[in-house]
Amino acid sequence: MEWETVSLEWNDSIATVTVDRPEALNALNVETLEALAEAIAAAEAGDARVLVLAGAGDDAFIAGADIKYMKDLSTPEAQAWGELGHDVADALEQFPGATVAAVDGYAFGGGCEMAMACDFRIASESALIGNTEIDLGIIPGWGGTQRLPRLVGEETAKRMIFLGERLDAETAAAEGLFGEVVSDDEVDNRIEEFAAELASKPAVALKAAKQAIEQRHGTGGLDYEKRAFAGLFGTHDQREGMKAFVEDRTPEFE
Ligand code: HXC
Repeated sequence: MEWETVSLEWNDSIATVTVDRPEALNALNVETLEALAEAIAAAEAGDARVLVLAGAGDDAFIAGADIKYMKDLSTPEAQAWGELGHDVADALEQFPGATVAAVDGYAFGGGCEMAMACDFRIASESALIGNTEIDLGIIPGWGGTQRLPRLVGEETAKRMIFLGERLDAETAAAEGLFGEVVSDDEVDNRIEEFAAELASKPAVALKAAKQAIEQRHGTGGLDYEKRAFAGLFGTHDQREGMKAFVEDRTPEFE
């Protein structure tokens, strides 16, 4: 299958899914999200033991959801948009093999959320990550309110989400958001090595272990987040926050 902004490459039983929208630092629009969903499904249909999620180029993993697309959405449109991203994040979380986010560059907002839906996050030294949605007058809408506290604890998650913090790789690793930080030159090799090690393990047992661990999480919080996210569209601060990004100026919140 071929997609304009997403690629799927195989190396034995390891599937690498790469988002490639250089003009927007790999930000996710509808077309790219739909392609991601199809690529993940194709990796599953091909019995991938490991899925690596990456962003093309050295600048960005995924710079978030596409703000230019999002800025004028109504609440019902934002609801559908939220669901689409949730479905992709859920597909990653429920993927039968192991998943690794290769965070080489910016991972903000929805990029951070896709990385958190993976089993592992291996980052380059120059990576930056955060749930930065607050500065656009919204909240994380693709699972961040639930997955960030699981990884970093509740107080740190609240600090990061309330302040829209952008953490450098070393700090993110210290907070538990990155499993490993590797030099920019070595990160691709390290991910390849780690993926090969994962792929060498008994796949049925690995899947059972993953599903057992996932049983700890309910879906009530994710459903609440979907409604709260959509409900913020049309507010003054959402319109102003996103308009200010597009106009490259500081927003004036109410
Ligand atoms: C749309 C984006 C984008 C985004 C960058 N671009 N991020 N377009 N959506 N999320 C575009 C810019 O508009 C610009 O296009 C080009 O990519 C290069 O970006 P620059 O800002 O010129 O680059 P730089 O100065 O290097 O700064 C990089 C950056 C900054 C720090 C990553 O772009 C930034 O802060 N982006 C927004 C990050 C963010 O807030 N993400 C969360 C979004 S909310 P032009 O055409 O002007 O050259 C979200 C919610 C998800 O993800 C949950 C539910 C939907």
